[in-house]
Amino acid sequence: MAVDLLLGLQWGDEGKGKIVDVLTKDYDIIARFQGGPNAGHTLEFDGIKHVLHTIPSGIFHKNSKNVIGNGVVIDPVIFKKELSNLDKFDLDYTSKLFVSRKAHLILPTHRLLDAASEASKGKAKIGSTLKGIGPTYMDKTGRNGMRVGDLELSDWKDRYRKLADKHEAMIDYYNVDLQYNLEELEAEFFEAVESLKQLTFIDSEQYIFDAISADQKILAEGAQGSLLDIDFGTYPFVTSSNTTAAGACTGLGVAPNKIGRVIGIFKAYTTRVGSGPFPTELFDTDGETMGRVGNEFGATTGRPRRCGWLDLVALKYAVQINGVTELMMMKADVLSGFEKIKVCTAYNYKGEEVSHLPYNIEEENVSPIYTELDGWKKDLTGLTDASELPESLMSYIEYLEKELEVPIKIVSVGPDRTQTIFR
Ligand code: GDP
Ligand code: IMO
Ligand code: MG
Repeated sequence: MAVDLLLGLQWGDEGKGKIVDVLTKDYDIIARFQGGPNAGHTLEFDGIKHVLHTIPSGIFHKNSKNVIGNGVVIDPVIFKKELSNLDKFDLDYTSKLFVSRKAHLILPTHRLLDAASEASKGKAKIGSTLKGIGPTYMDKTGRNGMRVGDLELSDWKDRYRKLADKHEAMIDYYNVDLQYNLEELEAEFFEAVESLKQLTFIDSEQYIFDAISADQKILAEGAQGSLLDIDFGTYPFVTSSNTTAAGACTGLGVAPNKIGRVIGIFKAYTTRVGSGPFPTELFDTDGETMGRVGNEFGATTGRPRRCGWLDLVALKYAVQINGVTELMMMKADVLSGFEKIKVCTAYNYKGEEVSHLPYNIEEENVSPIYTELDGWKKDLTGLTDASELPESLMSYIEYLEKELEVPIKIVSVGPDRTQTIFR
């Protein structure tokens, strides 16, 4: 039995949460493998909208188990709030939500370091969600981090103190005006740690291995998107984890030969929140329309997302890096009403036409070369069957399938669970 992967192929917010929720009925276990509360995964059903940050998007299904893997970074304070949001839904999450002992903890001072680092960068700031992601992964790779399993040790508070003291000195180094009350933040943190300790901590790699051996079906839920990958994204404007397929191997302890389907999620256009290059970004009424109709505001920070046409150069790259076996096109409904749909098929890069992603796609180096397709007028949000999709949208889908050489299996036409068309 294999582990299937579900990954965002752009700069995040492709609609991963929605699709994981739609697919969960076919799986026994949903497992997050990287990222942390920088993620905001939105699910909508029965007229209610839920936003999850650390908790896997399978949590609302009765029979699914949910695992937070070793590759994830957890902020106990945010996690506690997420859990309390679930309280009113009678989910009995304590019996179906498991946390890896090897997952790293985000301390209050990691958040402060993130803020200090961004403030010191001025205009060059990454546009981080300021959740402490970068500093926490730095401590992980620097071999200084604190892990969930440490909370089971009697001296964990001493370890905490040592690390937090070091962070304070580092914050001073940045020499920026940062107002904070560490005592208050720590009180909140220690209280939240007690809530976290109410959950079951597991050796998640063994848990996953046993589940595979028992023929259980596992879906690994990615966070962020391929272009935010620490190695393959638009560095340095990326996050601090491997968001691509390989991240599921290291973030859960799944061997590569146990990976089955690689499901790639992309929006019918492109968005990005935070700083960094975005070759197809629009600054005109088309971009404004995408943002308004698509309600493009960050699920974690509320920041407006930058919008633009689909970038096929970048999407091909993501398909390649991840070994995507099937695609899902999200938010097709948002493009209804556009006279023409543009797709970027190559870049003009320093005066030359290139169809691969160059090392440096700074604005001044790259301009997009577009192909135009016909748009469609039909409102898609009430459709339930692929046969009802307008002809021009079908041409768009078939064009992308041909270019990407991967089938598009789902077309999403609205945020609700039910607004999902299988092909
Ligand atoms: P994620 O981070 O990949 O899970 O995506 P987010 O939840 O951050 O952002 C996706 C947004 O689009 C959410 O507000 C979803 O409710 C919404 N959404 C998902 N699929 C569709 C769709 O097909 N059409 C529309 N209009 N909205 C969608
Ligand atoms: P989901 O899982 C979109 C972006 C931030 C910033 C950069 C680094 O909801 O798709 P970080 O907080 O990691 O230091 O920020 O990455 N970013 C995301 N953008 N969706 C996300 O997650 C993101 N997580 C981080 O905006 O540009
Ligand atoms: Mg999101």
